[in-house]
Amino acid sequence: MTMNTDQLFEKLSHKLSDQYSEAELILKAEMAAEIIALKEEKNAVILGHNYMEPALFHTVPDFTGDSLELSRKAAQTDKDVIVFCGVEFMAETAKILSPEKTVLVPSNKAGCSLASSITAEDVRKIKAQFPGVPVVTYINTYADVKAETDICCTSGNAKAVVESLPGDAVIFLPDEYLAGNIARETGKHIILPTKGTTYPKVEGVDVQMIGWNGRCEVHDQFTVEDIENVRASHPDVKVLSHPECKPAVVEASDFSGSTTEMIRYIQDNELPKYLLLTECAMGDNIHAENPNREMLRMCSVRCPHMNQIQLKDTYDALKYNQYEITIPEDIRQRAFQSVDRMLKIG
Ligand code: 13P
Ligand code: SF4
Repeated sequence: MTMNTDQLFEKLSHKLSDQYSEAELILKAEMAAEIIALKEEKNAVILGHNYMEPALFHTVPDFTGDSLELSRKAAQTDKDVIVFCGVEFMAETAKILSPEKTVLVPSNKAGCSLASSITAEDVRKIKAQFPGVPVVTYINTYADVKAETDICCTSGNAKAVVESLPGDAVIFLPDEYLAGNIARETGKHIILPTKGTTYPKVEGVDVQMIGWNGRCEVHDQFTVEDIENVRASHPDVKVLSHPECKPAVVEASDFSGSTTEMIRYIQDNELPKYLLLTECAMGDNIHAENPNREMLRMCSVRCPHMNQIQLKDTYDALKYNQYEITIPEDIRQRAFQSVDRMLKIG
């Protein structure tokens, strides 16, 4: 059943009245109703990442989730148009999987510090130095980088992907912290480049993971000291961190997982207080669903790329068919292999 403005207003008031004024909620409900009408007219599906701002997150997406869940939905939809309320690499992944569909990302400024940290040429140079070693790249990369890759992974399946590979050695790009966290979990010794694509020579050590120095500009901001400070004033807090955080931060946390895995942890463990070390909009979204749990978070920590996408941008995307994702077919086909191999891992 399609919701009208009044029903959307009621839903938003129920979930978000402590986050927005009534006047704001009325405007947001009106905009959401227009988006839903346009979505039907254009035979479109809207996918919304867990980091979308609360009024968008709770109204227009047909599906919400983490990178892995949304890639699966993008591969399965029978709609003509996919509007990806997330960042550009996510919309590109949808296009890689559904080339016959029109894929739109509502902002042309929704990048990602991880995706921009590495080029296809960098990957070719690394492969030349470590011939025969399989290459795993995080889904937070652009299509030309995925095209140089044997298999992709997300934060939700990185360990399973690494463990699925034959042999001990793996090139894992581009997130140095995610690589460090997976190296620790899988007992691998990791090396990082000292400059450009130059790697140190380590004598007498069996190097099993070759990393890169990309970082998420959001998760890089969290420190072990932040955790210690919060634990000192809230001894009963459970600390949840995204695996894009530094390995020391992940080690000092009670739980680490993808955005959806963190949401599930909170739903499954009825504890009164959580510290979320991730983008802050997700804390707002969880709080809206679980008003009786206290979400402690550092609200200055926002993703400037995810925040580009608001309801008005989503409306404009559908109305003006913007911003359309295009990928050269030869690159798309090679990138498809690495995304498809990941999806087959389950
Ligand atoms: P998830 O796959 O866990 O949703 O993470 C995506 C992301 O960009 C986190 O910063
Ligand atoms: Fe990229 Fe970090 Fe933003 Fe996620 S939170 S999109 S990894 S910059």
